[in-house]
Amino acid sequence: MSMTFASSDADALPLHVVHQGEFGSWLSAQPQVVKNWIEAQDFTPAVGKAILVPDKTGNPAFALIGYGNALTRSRTRFPLAAAAANLPQGTYTLATTLPDGDLETETLGWLLSAYLFDRYKYKPHKSARLVCPPGVDSARVEAIAAAEALTRNLINTPASDMGPADLEVAAQKLASRYEGAVNVITGDALLKQNFPLVHAVGRAADRPRAPRLIDLRWGTQGPKLTVVGKGVCFDTGGLNLKPGASMALMKKDMGGAATAMGLAHMIMALQLPIQLRLLIPAVENSVSANSFRPGDILTSREGMTIEVNNTDAEGRLVLADALTLASEDSPDLLVSIATLTGAARVAVGPDLAPYFCDDTEVCHALEHAAELVSDPVWRLPFWSAYEKMIEPEIADLDNAPSGGFGGSITAALFLRRFAQNQRYVHFDIYGWNPSNAPARPKGGVGMGARALFQALPNLLAI
Ligand code: BES
Ligand code: ZN
Ligand code: ZN
Repeated sequence: MSMTFASSDADALPLHVVHQGEFGSWLSAQPQVVKNWIEAQDFTPAVGKAILVPDKTGNPAFALIGYGNALTRSRTRFPLAAAAANLPQGTYTLATTLPDGDLETETLGWLLSAYLFDRYKYKPHKSARLVCPPGVDSARVEAIAAAEALTRNLINTPASDMGPADLEVAAQKLASRYEGAVNVITGDALLKQNFPLVHAVGRAADRPRAPRLIDLRWGTQGPKLTVVGKGVCFDTGGLNLKPGASMALMKKDMGGAATAMGLAHMIMALQLPIQLRLLIPAVENSVSANSFRPGDILTSREGMTIEVNNTDAEGRLVLADALTLASEDSPDLLVSIATLTGAARVAVGPDLAPYFCDDTEVCHALEHAAELVSDPVWRLPFWSAYEKMIEPEIADLDNAPSGGFGGSITAALFLRRFAQNQRYVHFDIYGWNPSNAPARPKGGVGMGARALFQALPNLLAI
């Protein structure tokens, strides 16, 4: 799997990209042999169509791909990647000028179309490689592609090989590559250092898979960004055990951590002038004699008490202590990313990254960036009138309000209680692509990280 650009190559085949509206005039300007060939191939300029066109000797002269129209393109996240997947192995160089705004995203899509999760099974792969077009910062696009591949690999790796300790190793590896520092608090030390919720959720797991709080820091100057990622390496639901069908995909419950690590990778590889802190509460929500129970009342690091009404609402618990720690540092921007609720997926489906933020300017910057880089986000409200739903009779907070109304919102309100007086953005992502799409194969996928990365200069004034 090669997710880099091809080096400039004299033999690279020119790649012509034709829009539906221009196809007729483009075709009529071609020599008769070319017209004959293209017509014989039944080529239409729809998104994803790709053919090679030979010269008189029968060797390929150029490649031709369809670019549809604005409407059909809006249904495909990475239209160029859709065609790249249908080209034979080889090296290609763009012969058509795409709009500047699309170019970086389209070339990223091309690189991502080479992604394969082949840790457990060899898969033969042909890949059509692209020479980096002028005007595109190849190092930037390659770093973003590598970051996304990291996110996908972390999510796709099953819990048998991606427990809390493995997530720690991944964070260490990332930090050492960019000279960051990692501090980890594990097992009973979580109690001594006052992370009771991380401990309570993770304590039922097997000893080598003990709960931990991973704290990565990088950068010594500039505004402070803290990103908290939900690292539930497997979510059985705990004593409120999930039924089989709901548990099946729960290896992805560290998708927030994986996405946060992808974002950290982009920031460090491209050396943003900021102070980055990545916090990952890494736990396995498991079943054992020492599991936390429904009805338990836990006291958080912050001091608020929480009545556990469902052990399956574990994400907000581990995130709460991590958010408290984050807030103690007063970052300029605090972000949490989590596969937090099934309700978020029901609300917006697997394509969109729902997010919550009280600062309208931040929302504008984020949505503008999201659009530019084809990493769509959708704002949901921190609806204060629902605060009462998370306030039980005998404790300060309820982790699982009955009824489930606005489940993603009530989870977000719960987290907001631990991020007071902060510029705070929370993502409730799905982290999984249920079916194959161009540049986004079925499986783990980053959501919102590229949008955030694109927005950071604006959000942090750097
Ligand atoms: N990890 C799940 C949320 C989830 C489920 C995300 C399916 C994506 C797909 C989370 O820990 C959970 O189980 N949440 C419960 C909360 C409820 C008990 C209040 C949920 O959403 O059902
Ligand atoms: Zn759960
Ligand atoms: Zn969970």
